[in-house]
Amino acid sequence: MSIASIVEELARQGWCVIPVFLSATETTALRAECLAAHTAGAFHAAAVGRGEAAGVRAEVRGDQILWLDDSHAGPAARVVLERYEALRQGVNQALFLGLFDLEAHFAVYPPGGGYQRHLDRFRDDDHRSLTVVLYLNQDWREEDGGLLRFWPEADGEPFDILPAGGTLVTFLSDRYWHEVLPSRRQRLSLTGWFRRR
Ligand code: OGA
Ligand code: MN
Repeated sequence: MSIASIVEELARQGWCVIPVFLSATETTALRAECLAAHTAGAFHAAAVGRGEAAGVRAEVRGDQILWLDDSHAGPAARVVLERYEALRQGVNQALFLGLFDLEAHFAVYPPGGGYQRHLDRFRDDDHRSLTVVLYLNQDWREEDGGLLRFWPEADGEPFDILPAGGTLVTFLSDRYWHEVLPSRRQRLSLTGWFRRR
């Protein structure tokens, strides 16, 4: 799926699932970068909330994260960041969102981990505008759990997305409720948010 068709689908419905955003080779390389940093102990438990209310609550959110910045983005991560830059420009031209930067982290959910139903925009920070979740898992099956449950309408029926390696899910951050169902395997992703000023 080209960047142009992703932009078109975002403009039409506000969300989009791209089954093969990364090739198997690119996904394998990015998974290796993620796992190398995880093995090196670079990750920390993700917190919920912001400011004084922030805290680690594994029953709400069970993943470990590592923020990505240019100093430790490997070659495979750079490929993704370049493609995201093209997406950012396309979205700005078509949707006038004024996206100006990206914050992104690797996320590793241990077996048993999940993330309760939520929106990605913090109550006290409305800068996150477009979410991008890219999965890095090999041979994921439905029995492995860890599905992304996604509500196209807040009070409608959700559908589930398999976190299969190479798949990208993108959506307007303030609009779509979603949840990570408990995973039975270690579950890897690179998750980011384009922000506006
Ligand atoms: C998040 C999130 C979804 C996923 O990190 O905010 O909702 O499938 N992640 O990992
Ligand atoms: Mn989320």
